[in-house]
Amino acid sequence: MEEKLLMVKEKLAKYGQEHLLNFYNELSEDKKSELLDEILTIDFKQVEDLYESTKTKPDFTESKIEPIPHITKSELSNEEIEKYTKIGEQIIKQGKLAVVTMAGGQGTRLGHSGPKGTFDIGLSSHKSIFEILCDNFKLAKEKYDIVIPWYLMTSEENHQDTVKFFEENNYFNYPKEAVQFFKQGTLPMLNKEGKVLLNELKMPKQAPDGHGGVFEAMRKNGVIYNMKERGIEWVFISGVDNVLVKPIDPVLTAIATEKNMLVASKSLVKANPKEKVGVFCKKDGKPSVIEYTEISDEMANAKDENGELLYGESHILCNQFNIKILEELANNKLPYHVAVKKASYINENGEYVVPEEPNAYKFESFLFDAFSLIPEMLILRVKREEEFAPVKNAEGVDSPETARNLYNNYYHLS
Ligand code: UD1
Repeated sequence: MEEKLLMVKEKLAKYGQEHLLNFYNELSEDKKSELLDEILTIDFKQVEDLYESTKTKPDFTESKIEPIPHITKSELSNEEIEKYTKIGEQIIKQGKLAVVTMAGGQGTRLGHSGPKGTFDIGLSSHKSIFEILCDNFKLAKEKYDIVIPWYLMTSEENHQDTVKFFEENNYFNYPKEAVQFFKQGTLPMLNKEGKVLLNELKMPKQAPDGHGGVFEAMRKNGVIYNMKERGIEWVFISGVDNVLVKPIDPVLTAIATEKNMLVASKSLVKANPKEKVGVFCKKDGKPSVIEYTEISDEMANAKDENGELLYGESHILCNQFNIKILEELANNKLPYHVAVKKASYINENGEYVVPEEPNAYKFESFLFDAFSLIPEMLILRVKREEEFAPVKNAEGVDSPETARNLYNNYYHLS
């Protein structure tokens, strides 16, 4: 232990993070050892680089940004829809589709203390979001007589609660063997001076490292291997917070297959320039998404000759990947984006502080940054009222109330 302590002290001194041991002597023997082990897993060189990155703003002025072509589903003829449905259903019935739900986010905006998927949006059935998502799988089982594998990405923070919720709810009567959980990575949160924060347990405060880590997490946890063993060809990956998500989509699958695309995404028309969605575009000739937190006003407001938003093809985090490309994506490090958040912490006097203003940097990689690693992708524009009812905020836009209304309208419920 003494040797380990010395090693840790040396590491911390090198990067100016000695404060992480401020309360070391107060900890139990077990906690002491846990703290040292955790510190040893942190890549402080990376932490230093991430802090440096907070000093510059993302700048696309050097890049060539252009709109990207898409296919509008509602403009396909009945014959085309019939043809694609048949092809796609065949692929699904052969057991070649799997689904990943990324449920590792913190859901801070919603203000729900448990995993977001356990939230009840107030339907008369009182189904949780997880159960609503599971209905897609149960429906497909009835329709295609196939059990589609469902993988859920959790985080260090919510893994246990998520698994417990599925156990307690008997996996919503979906075959338990078809459901698999895997954890995403974490990164330390920093204060404005670049120091790693301490959490209420006096351990380094870490947060999920963004859904861009999904590919690496899938590889590390044997998920890609498991999919290959099962003969999976297509993997639909989405977030946990859209109660109208359609993860098992024959038309999307068929068009991507027919057009030999390795990635296929759904999009919809951006409601207004300020809507909090990323938009598809081409950046330096490569498919790309510019996130709402990083888009310039000029780009957000630009119109085409018909008066429509030039960059109005919204990304709704509904993306399907061919298994052939997943391994390659898992071996690529995606860039990190920074967000300034309110994060409680233990200060130098050992007091617990709940800040009123954003005080901490959080770093996340985004899944859609992987798009620029492929030459071309399919973007299928779908209808908002059929496929997008996000639950993000406690009230107002994208809240349980708006999601509930959209859900009830779609399913003709009240
Ligand atoms: C996201 C998209 C945005 C899109 C919008 C549509 C990102 C960064 N942006 O915005 O382009 O237009 O949805 O609704 O995703 N998650 C994890 N692990 C993490 C972080 C997030 O699993 O480390 C999951 C969350 O559980 C959630 C989803 O990813 O299901 C979206 O995350 P969030 O950070 O809430 O993204 P938005 O800002 O809503």
